Amino acid sequence: IRVLSVASEAYPLVKTGGLADVVGALPAALASYGVEVTTLIPGYPAVTATLGKTRAVHRWPALLGTPARLLAGDIEGHPLLVLDAPDLFARDGNLYTDPGGKDWHDNWRRFAALARAAADLGSSGVKGRGYDVVHAHDWQAALAPVYLRHAPAGERAARSVITIHNIAFQGWFDPGILPWLALPDDLFTVDGIEFYGGVGYLKGGMQAADAITTVSPSYAQEILSPEFGMGLEGLVAARRDRVSGIVNGIDPAIWNPATDAALPARYTDRTLGKRAANKREIEARFGLEQGDGPIFTVVSRLTWQKGMDVLGECVDDLVAMGGRLALLGSGDPALEDAFRLAADRHPGRVGVMIGYDEPVSHLLQGGTDAILIPSRFEPCGLTQLYGLAYGCVPVVARTGGLADTIIDANEAALAAGVATGIQFAGVSRDALTAAIARAVRLYADRKTWTTIQQRGMRSDFSWDRSGFRYAQLYRGLLDQ
Ligand code: ADP
Ligand code: GLC
Repeated sequence: IRVLSVASEAYPLVKTGGLADVVGALPAALASYGVEVTTLIPGYPAVTATLGKTRAVHRWPALLGTPARLLAGDIEGHPLLVLDAPDLFARDGNLYTDPGGKDWHDNWRRFAALARAAADLGSSGVKGRGYDVVHAHDWQAALAPVYLRHAPAGERAARSVITIHNIAFQGWFDPGILPWLALPDDLFTVDGIEFYGGVGYLKGGMQAADAITTVSPSYAQEILSPEFGMGLEGLVAARRDRVSGIVNGIDPAIWNPATDAALPARYTDRTLGKRAANKREIEARFGLEQGDGPIFTVVSRLTWQKGMDVLGECVDDLVAMGGRLALLGSGDPALEDAFRLAADRHPGRVGVMIGYDEPVSHLLQGGTDAILIPSRFEPCGLTQLYGLAYGCVPVVARTGGLADTIIDANEAALAAGVATGIQFAGVSRDALTAAIARAVRLYADRKTWTTIQQRGMRSDFSWDRSGFRYAQLYRGLLDQ
């Protein structure tokens, strides 16, 4: 089976969050199930600069009005296509926002072009290339299924899958863009791409795709409710028989404490004692006093979704309980300030690094004791999986993928020897403080804590089962 996976980011070429990790990992995850994944991403400067030798395999004189080329390369040994359209993508800085922090004014055009290119590749628009399935990720790729559905009559078109990594981001634009999208006029209805008077990219993609997936079974259920569905719950319900949840895995070539070059000391589940050296390094880098008590970490976008405002309210409690905190993150300026102030209030106990730093994110997983993830909603979440793999015990809110991947250390789970972390219900100061208190108590019981760490490291966070499920999904579509 040949699949074209299309997205706005892919690790290691370009990453702002978990989407990139997943898109980067899919080709290897699916290869063993007889699926060849080709990845299509935009040609941002960061991408074209690192590509090395490439060939232009196709040219569009005007792709939705802009000249564009398709470059072929590879990503970690798997086929890669890059949409080189300088008018749209040759801009420095953030992928999605201008230097002032506002969405690029032409995001609708940038990502419509990406989707149009994907649809051409999935039909007869690009000679010499054929794909059985076009797999679109999030709103940036969501028009691909729409274009495929409206391919000229008689043209062979690939099946389509849309994966929702976060339904909170929907790609909603002014109806004035319609003529530029080159879609049939009669598509501007509630059954098409119309959404609350504008054009909804994710909505259109969910309407048109042959299958809809999201990144955990719990989130697939949750988005049936208005609280999580963000206005799309009715559509999710209407297409229920096409919706499934497939949990993310992690890429063992990148996230493995036994081989991780970002760690001063590498270790396995049998040599956990070596983590101490990494802890010392973190104390030094984050300005924390040395000690044997637990260090909690946060590696996160600092946003409301991630419950970072609530964590801010709990920092004093965490310190009062004898904990220390090493936080790496960036996002809302008000939250960044709040954490800087918390560090000032608690010298030696709270260390804060505002920014984005891939190696430091590995170091924190490899040396702190527990990772706090108080998300209000979490389609899957990857940092709790990295925590499992690294013996950094996840303390998570019971929602979405966090609920699906972490087993709470309650009495029954401890007795059965299956606990891998701590879950708490409801994102509030009281609930999170209580969860931190549980972690502090468990940590003091060194034997139990070590068992929880080892249990996590030995649990299945691989792509094996999920890779198989995607392969099954594609096969099912081709049989229809
Ligand atoms: P989301 O995609 O919603 O932000 P995920 O947990 O799925 O959440 O993925 C987040 C990814 O981004 C992880 O790989 C995490 O390690 C990484 N990450 C988040 N913030 C930072 C940061 N400040 N520095 C380095 N990596 C970060
Ligand atoms: C989104 C979600 C996150 C998920 C990631 C990868 O960013 O917020 O929960 O892990 O996509 O699927």
